[in-house]
Amino acid sequence: MNLKSFILPAALALSALCASADAAMESKIDNLLSRMTLEEKIGQLNQLSGYGYAPAMVGQIKAGVVGSILNDVDPVTVNKLQRVAVDSTRLGIPLVFARDVIHGFKTIFPIPLGQAASWNPAIVEQGARIAADEASSAGVRWTFSPMLDIARDARWGRIAEGFGEDPYLTSVLGVAMVKGYQGDDLANPSSIAACAKHFAGYGASESGKDYNTTWIPEMQLRDVYLPPFKAAADAGAATFMCSFNDINGVPSSGNRHLLRDILRGEWGYDGLMVSDWGSIQQMIPHGFSADLRQAAEQAIAAGVDMDMEGYAFISHLKELVESGSVSMADVDNAVRNVLRLKYRLGLFDNPYVDEANANRFFLPASLDAATRAVQECAILLKNDNNVLPLKKGVKVAVIGPMADARHDQNGTWSFDMEKDRSVTPLESLRKLLGSKNVIYAPGVKYSRDRSTEGFAEALDAARQADVVIAFVGEEAVLSGEAHSRVDITLPGAQKELLQELAKAGKPLVTVYQTGRPMAIAQDAAVSDAVLYSYHAGTMAGPGLANLLTGAAVPSGHLPTVLPRMSGQTPLYYAHKNTGRPAEGITLIDDIDLEAGQTSTGCTSYFLDAGDGPLYPFGYGLSYTTFDYAAPVLSASEMGPDGSITVTCRVTNTGSREGAEVAQLYVRDMVGSLIRPVKELKGFEKFSLKPGESRDVTFTLNAADLGFHLLDNSYVVEPGDFQLWVAPNSAAGEPVAFKIVK
Ligand code: BGC
Repeated sequence: MNLKSFILPAALALSALCASADAAMESKIDNLLSRMTLEEKIGQLNQLSGYGYAPAMVGQIKAGVVGSILNDVDPVTVNKLQRVAVDSTRLGIPLVFARDVIHGFKTIFPIPLGQAASWNPAIVEQGARIAADEASSAGVRWTFSPMLDIARDARWGRIAEGFGEDPYLTSVLGVAMVKGYQGDDLANPSSIAACAKHFAGYGASESGKDYNTTWIPEMQLRDVYLPPFKAAADAGAATFMCSFNDINGVPSSGNRHLLRDILRGEWGYDGLMVSDWGSIQQMIPHGFSADLRQAAEQAIAAGVDMDMEGYAFISHLKELVESGSVSMADVDNAVRNVLRLKYRLGLFDNPYVDEANANRFFLPASLDAATRAVQECAILLKNDNNVLPLKKGVKVAVIGPMADARHDQNGTWSFDMEKDRSVTPLESLRKLLGSKNVIYAPGVKYSRDRSTEGFAEALDAARQADVVIAFVGEEAVLSGEAHSRVDITLPGAQKELLQELAKAGKPLVTVYQTGRPMAIAQDAAVSDAVLYSYHAGTMAGPGLANLLTGAAVPSGHLPTVLPRMSGQTPLYYAHKNTGRPAEGITLIDDIDLEAGQTSTGCTSYFLDAGDGPLYPFGYGLSYTTFDYAAPVLSASEMGPDGSITVTCRVTNTGSREGAEVAQLYVRDMVGSLIRPVKELKGFEKFSLKPGESRDVTFTLNAADLGFHLLDNSYVVEPGDFQLWVAPNSAAGEPVAFKIVK
C-alpha cells in the first residue's frame, strides 16, 4: 500500500469522526440551552475577578450570575468554588477559571518579545506547554495569551507582550504558542485554552501611548494587523479577546464589522469572544455609548460573548432582551460560544483540578527548557575583537542594576513568579567563573536611579578587572500595560554609567534586559560587545552566563528594528520607499552655516538621526560566521496560482558550531497600491558545524504575495518582484522574478 492511499482514507475517517464529535457536542449545547432561563444564560456571559472562597462570591455563583472567574490560582479554592457551581446551581454548569499566563506561570520564560527573538517556534511552543502544565495544575484552564498585536512603536509598553513588528513572524510564533497551550486535545486536564488578543489594531495606538486611538485603513488592517489573528483562528485558538482601542472611531467592543463580519463571517470562527477588562463599560468614556445600558446593547450586537469585569451584561441584558432591544438569538449565540469552550475543555466531564497532582512547578526539565530559551532569545549585536566569549581565567567586573535583579529580570505580566526562584546573572557568573574572579559593584541601585554615588566604586572595579560586563536595562514595571515611555533610551543614570565605565580602558560588554526595543546608539558606541536580551525570566542568569562564557552560542535575531533615537519611532523595516528615498544624507553637524533651503538634497531622512535603524530587523551575530551563496530559483516566473522554490546554500565559515536564521524577503516592485520595500515571507533556523553547509529551501507561492485593495479585495498582481535570502532584512543581493498572467 502506498502512503497516499493509506493517509487519505485515514484523514477522511478522522475528519468524519471529528464532525460527528462536533455534532454531538452541538446537540448537547442546544439541549442545555433549551433548558436555561434568560437569567442563567446571562450569568454564563459574566466573568468576574476572583478573591478566594469568599461568601459574596459563593453567593453569586449559587445565584447563577457567574460564568467564569479570573485570577483565582489556588487549586483547593478553585475546586471549592467549582463545587458550588456544579452542585449548588440548578443546571450544574461548571465555571472556567482564567489567568494571564503570558510567558510562564511559575517558571518564567523570556517575555514574548524575547521569545520572538529566538525565531524558533519550537522554543515558543515548549514554553507555552510548560506554562500550561504549571497553570493547569493550579486550576487555571484558560490563559489570556498569545498577544498578537503587531507593534511598530517601541514607546508602547505592551510591545513587550507580543512578537514584534512583523505579521509573518508573529503568525508563525502565535500559532506555536496556541499549540503549546492547547496541546493536541483541549480536554486533556493539562491543556489550557489560548486567547488571541487584542482583536484588533491595539498596537497602532497613536504615539505609542496605551489605550490610545488608532486610525487604520482597512487594507492595512487586513495586510498587517489581522494575519496573525487569522492564523490563530485557523490553528484552533479557543478564544479571542477584543481590544480596548477604537479603530477609525469605533471601539473594538462595539465593532460589529470586525467581530461579526470578519471573524465569524469571513473566517468562520466558532470560539468565544471575551471583552477586555471593563472594555464594554469603557465605551462610555470613549464617547461611543451614552450609558452602560447602551454599551451592553452595542457589545452584544457587535459580537462580544463574555463581559470581563464590566458589569454591563449582568446589569442590563435582561431588560434589553425583554424590551426587544437585544434579540434572544444574539444572547443564545453568545451562550453557545461559552458552553462550547467549557465542553471543549472537558469541564462537564471533569470540572475539578486533581489536588493530589496539583502545583507542578519548577520541574528540573522546565528550568532547563527556560535556560535554553534564554540562550536562544538573546541577540549578539556587536562583538569587536571577539571580546566574547570570555577567555578562560579572566577576571570580570560585574556592574549595573540588572546584574542581580531577582524581581525585575522576570519582566511584565509575571503575576505568579516567585522572586526567590530567580537565578541572576551575578550568581551564575560567580558559579561559572569562580567568586574570586567576579568583582561586583552595581554603580546604580535600580534602573531609574539617577544617583551617581556608586560610579566611583564601579569604575574602580572596572579598573581591577580584565573585562567589564554591564547589565543594564529597564525594571519590569517600565514596560507592559499602561507603561509606555516617550524616551526609550536607558532610564536613570545608566547611560552616564556606561560612559564612565568606558574610561577604565577595559573591554566593555553591555548586556541589556529590557521590555522593549531601546535606542542604544550612544551606549553601543562605547561598548566592545553588546548582548541584547529582553527580560529573560527565572533562568536569565544561567542562560546569559552560558552565552557570555561560550558554553552556549548566541542565535537570537531582532524581532523589531532597534532605532537610533527615540524620535524615530514608529520605525519598521517593511516601510514604503516614498517618492524621495534617503540618499546623500547630510547630518546636522555637517550643514554649512547659512546653507540654502535645498542644501540637504531633499530626500526622506532626519537631520539628526539620518535614515533607518541602528540595527535592522532580523539582525543577530554568532560566535561563528555564516556565508550565504546566491539563491537559486526553480523558475524565474510563475502564474498567479503558481509557486517557485528558492534554494540558498548557507555555510558555517567560522570555527564553532552555531545556529543561523535564514530569512526570505520579497519586494513587489510596482503595485496598484505601493508595496513595502521588503516583506518577510519565510525563515528557517538551523544549526551548522564548522565548515558544514546546508541548502535551505523555501517554497514561494504567488498567492502569498498579494495584498488588499481599497475595496478590501485581495489581489495578486502580475509584474516584477525581487527576493532576498539573507541573515537580516538589510543584507543580501536581490534576485528578480516575475508573476505572469
Ligand atoms: C489587559 C488584558 C488582560 C486583562 C485581564 C487587561 O487590562 O489588557 O491583556 O488579559 O486585563 O487581566
